[in-house]
Amino acid sequence: MTAHLRLGVNIDHVATIRNARGGDHPDPVRAAFAAAEAGADGVTAHLREDRRHIRDEDISRLMDRLSVPLNLEMAATEEMLEIALRHRPHAACIVPEKREERTTEGGLDAAGQDNHLLPFVARLSDAGIRVSLFIEPDPRQIEAALRLRAPVVEFHTGRYAHLEGDSRAEELRRIAESAALAAKNGIEPHAGHGLSFDNVAPIAAIPHLRELNIGHFLVGEAIFTGFEAGIRRMRELMDSAR
Ligand code: PXP
Repeated sequence: MTAHLRLGVNIDHVATIRNARGGDHPDPVRAAFAAAEAGADGVTAHLREDRRHIRDEDISRLMDRLSVPLNLEMAATEEMLEIALRHRPHAACIVPEKREERTTEGGLDAAGQDNHLLPFVARLSDAGIRVSLFIEPDPRQIEAALRLRAPVVEFHTGRYAHLEGDSRAEELRRIAESAALAAKNGIEPHAGHGLSFDNVAPIAAIPHLRELNIGHFLVGEAIFTGFEAGIRRMRELMDSAR
């Protein structure tokens, strides 16, 4: 049997809805508890430079109260490094960040930024934080992750999610080959972005993948079936694809 595929639930957009009215409802920390209750193996939150969804106090409260591991998504900036080192989450996923983008549009160019990223990976790792690099499924980026000594990579599945037909099948093949290459080199492969009930199964069937991080779809689905029911259904789809 293929190894268990962990589900990390990204709670950013619970905070997006909260912030739309400026109060404290819905609380992303409550959503994190609900996610854990429904079978999530971990919770993911992206503290953006502009704090458009998750805020500093959300990270503090998650660190104080959460019983499952927190994966902090962060840009490679001094400010975020200081925050990560202060809180010491279980994992930190380094993502590219552009102020004007709606979401993380592509993977990190680890191959083109070795020198910039090296001290971030080293300092986070020295603090006992499991570092992941959010990259495109591309051998050049995996080689860079190896040079940087990142123990984990997360493949950006946004292109896969948006493509159709043969192009989607080709992108799926790239992700599967990249996961195999990462695993062969001792790097744990994860994947995420744009995953939904409709497109998760072929990704979940990739044997080397060990974790999927899913957010926007689950928060949207919560409107129709509830957050916990959506997470349970996602869990079932992932498990039955293995
Ligand atoms: N993984 C990473 C590194 C991300 O940046 C995001 C989006 O914030 C996700 C996973 C989840 O993507 P989505 O919200 O589209 O499920």
